[in-house]
Formats: sequence, structure tokens, C-alpha cells
Amino acid sequence: MMEELLARLSAARSTLALTGSGISAESGLPTFRGTGGLWQTHRVEELASPKGFARNPSLVWSWYNERKSAHQLARPNAGHYALAHLETLTRGFTLATQNVDSLHLRAGSQRVLELHGNLREARCTGCAARRPLGRSGLPLDEIEHACGGRMRPDIVWFGESLPEEVWEAAYDAALRADVILVVGTSAVVYPAAALAQTNAEAYVAEINPEATAISGRVDCVLRGTAAQMLPAIVEALSS
Ligand code: OAD
Repeated sequence: MMEELLARLSAARSTLALTGSGISAESGLPTFRGTGGLWQTHRVEELASPKGFARNPSLVWSWYNERKSAHQLARPNAGHYALAHLETLTRGFTLATQNVDSLHLRAGSQRVLELHGNLREARCTGCAARRPLGRSGLPLDEIEHACGGRMRPDIVWFGESLPEEVWEAAYDAALRADVILVVGTSAVVYPAAALAQTNAEAYVAEINPEATAISGRVDCVLRGTAAQMLPAIVEALSS
């Protein structure tokens, strides 16, 4: 399986990697759905929806501020670094991530499409003004904006559309790709998960220690963690 993937990556004119929270697990950040996952102990509709934010903006920001602080303390792991390296070893490489933790950028990946936004900025619900977030997020007394709107995290919540340009670029990359690597995602949240399945011609490889919604439909399954498998791929390609 690994041999075929390596051959495909070497020959590929274009490669897409789609990542999810599992790639940051070995940096100490929780995933969403597994044991200890964020959605096991937190209510999605309260914390990650426009309605939840309208009801209790301070609660929502307290949670994102905690996550922002955790992102700041975390470091990219060998999986993030391997994907940054893979970008230099393969042709036409695009990385589309569902993560908002900025760890791919911190690991040095250049072409990163953040499908669900990021926690580097807040934006106003009224006038769309933006401001950078500090290491521990947004002070709760700065949620209300002078224009009468509220500052919100610059991320995509449930029920919201993905940023159009980012989505189009990711979709194009999926259609162009000869190889699609799906890393650390349960592949149940759409439309992101669709990127793994839009191109019937692409060779799709899943890197995940556990089976997912798409395991039965991919060409190659590497059962292991991102920090184990991705460096092994990079090493084999560079030797
Ligand atoms: P999930 O929590 O749904 O899935 C995490 C996946 O990572 C699971 O399939 C795990 O088996 C796998 N995993 C765990 N440890 C791993 C490791 N060390 N290496 C590789 N894989 C590992 O998280 P996502 O698929 O990212 O959306 O969830 C998608 C979206 O749902 C998130 O972006 C977020 C969430 O609600 C929004 O907030 C809009």
C-alpha cells in the first residue's frame, strides 16, 4: 500500500492534503468526536453556532479564548512538519485544513486553505471590521464593537457557509489532484469531507489510526498516527 502511494506521489502533477483535528492530537490538542473530544463535553449549538453566540457571546468567547490559549502553547508536531516538507517534494501541492489552530502555518506550510477560518482574528458582525486576537484571545469587555455590532471569532460555525474563495480553491485543487491525502479527520462534516470524494480519478489515501466514514471508499488506508505515518512518507520520498 505504502509503495503504491509513494509511486503515485512521485508521479503526481498535483496533490491535495485534507487535514482535520487528528493531525493536532499529537500536539496535545483535543479532537472533536473521539474519546475526550470537544463535542463529548461541550454543546456544539451553544458554542459553535450564530444562535449560540447571539444568546451568550461571553460564554462563546470564554471557550474560544481557552482554545486560543491552548493553540498558543501547543507546538506543531512531526505530522505538520512532514506536510510542510511534502509541499517542497511534490508538484502542485495544496493543503486544505479544517483546523483553526494555525499549526500548519507555524510548521512552515505555504499554501494553506483554512476551510473553517482561524483563531488569529476577530471580525465584527455589524461592519466586518477585523482585529487580531492576542495570545489569550479577546478580552470579554471588548466584544461589543463601536458600530453596534459584536466582535466574533473569524471561524465558520455550524449552519454557516465556508469562505467562498477558500472553498473554490480547495474544490479546484481536489478536481486537479492526482493524489488526495486525508489525514486526521472523521470525514463527517460537509462540505469539507466532500473534498476527499469529489474526484473519482484521484488516488485517495487515508492516514488515521481509526476507521472513518470514508475508509471503505479510499484506495489506500494507512492505520497509524499522523506523526508516525507522514514523516515515513517524506523520508521514503526524499531518499
Ligand atoms: P473529529 O474529532 O471528527 O475526527 C478526528 C479524527 O482524527 C478521528 O477520525 C480520529 O480517529 C483521528 N485521529 C485521532 N488522533 C490522530 C492522530 N494522532 N493522527 C491522525 N489521526 C488521528 O475531527 P474533524 O474531522 O477535524 O468544525 O472534525 C471536523 C470538524 O468538525 C471540525 O473542523 C469542527 C468540528 O465540528 C467546525 O468547528 C466548523
